Amino acid sequence: MLQTTPIDAATQSQFTRQISDRLQLALTAHLEHAYSPDHVKSLRLFSATETAELIGVTPAFLRKGHADGSLAEPAVNKSGRRFYSGDEIWEMRQILEAGSRKPGKYRPGRRDDDHLQVIQFMNFKGGSAKSTSAIHLCHYLALQGYRVLAIDLDPQSSLTGFCGLNPELEFDGQSVYDAMRYEDALPMQECIQKTYFPGLDLAPARLILSEFEVDTAVYSQEGVPFYTRLSNAIEQVEVDYDVVVIDSPPSLGYLTMAGLFSATSIIVPLTPSMLDVASTQQFLQMMADYIEAFEKQGIEIEFEDFSFLITRDDPSDVPSQQITGLMRALFQKQVLSATTLRSTAVADAAMLKCSIFEINRSDITRTTYDRARASMDAFGAEVAGMIQKNWGR
Ligand SMILES: Nc1ncnc2c1ncn2[C@@H]1O[C@H](COP(=O)(O)OP(=O)(O)OP(=O)(O)O)[C@@H](O)[C@H]1O
Ligand SMILES: [Mg+2]
Repeated sequence: MLQTTPIDAATQSQFTRQISDRLQLALTAHLEHAYSPDHVKSLRLFSATETAELIGVTPAFLRKGHADGSLAEPAVNKSGRRFYSGDEIWEMRQILEAGSRKPGKYRPGRRDDDHLQVIQFMNFKGGSAKSTSAIHLCHYLALQGYRVLAIDLDPQSSLTGFCGLNPELEFDGQSVYDAMRYEDALPMQECIQKTYFPGLDLAPARLILSEFEVDTAVYSQEGVPFYTRLSNAIEQVEVDYDVVVIDSPPSLGYLTMAGLFSATSIIVPLTPSMLDVASTQQFLQMMADYIEAFEKQGIEIEFEDFSFLITRDDPSDVPSQQITGLMRALFQKQVLSATTLRSTAVADAAMLKCSIFEINRSDITRTTYDRARASMDAFGAEVAGMIQKNWGR
């Protein structure tokens, strides 16, 4: 039963706490309604056509593999159609890669001396679609056969929620804070969880992550550097992943900066409105000041790529198209060609803490699904191309 009586408190702290408690109850009720109490998120099945497309073969090629026994038969529905689980797709990739003459055809991840790719989404403008873009990239890359680690650097824990953990309902286990903290930091391995999505692991966030900002203010006075806290943690697990995707909070504090010191690529999501552009300009000005201050101390920040991503793009909205045009004219290559379209399919999926990749095409209006999916695919493919280019391919 939702509480709806007026808030009645003697002090401001009680007033604020009552609001927070009431919201928490409402959120818990929403989550328990959306998921059964012991709900565990799982990945949908993929049709034969979609599976073949993801792997980069034809459905006939898969059928031949099943017939000659080289690829295990998946489940078949009542009308005789094959459906594949994420694990089965992952397994088929391994088998096909082992038998392929062209390395990386089915498993496009790191080889030999390829360096780990660390992609950070950042912008201190709140709501610029950092978390939405991060989860879509994670899912896209994992479906393409990359080993992905998602790191949630935002105490709001949106990315953690997308990965199937309910920060509002609490979860057991460590968070990335435990690997970054200044006292008794844990090995990063202990702070990472497998997710229900094959190929995707998560270093989750919890509210306590905001302590990192406070701790750093104290420890940096004692000369303990904050900027190696995350990069050292990532180094411990580097061999297990091809790509790390970092989501940042809407601020340019120590957490975001710790991410920046680990990142090989920066993506700045930007909703095309003048207010957002102005805010992003301030963000970049501050970032330049910070980087310069470090450079003066001889501490280098080295990222290979910097890109803007136009988010919630609406081709029918003339003013926003003009801003997108301005950004492209100003920065050319620094603006990703792909944009992520404003879509009710993406917003509705987010209500269920899902990406568009987790939604069945048959569950919503097909044209709506196709447009949203095509834009997220194009964004993922462009970043994958960037990754391959950084590996010299
Ligand atoms: N392509 C899209 N179409 C429709 N809605 C979108 C799209 N991308 C993001 N949104 C919605 O915009 C809102 C903000 O997105 P998101 O949480 O990803 O932003 P953020 O930058 O991570 O926010 P914060 O700064 O608070 O971390 C969310 O409600 C999300 O569902
Ligand atoms: Mg976010």
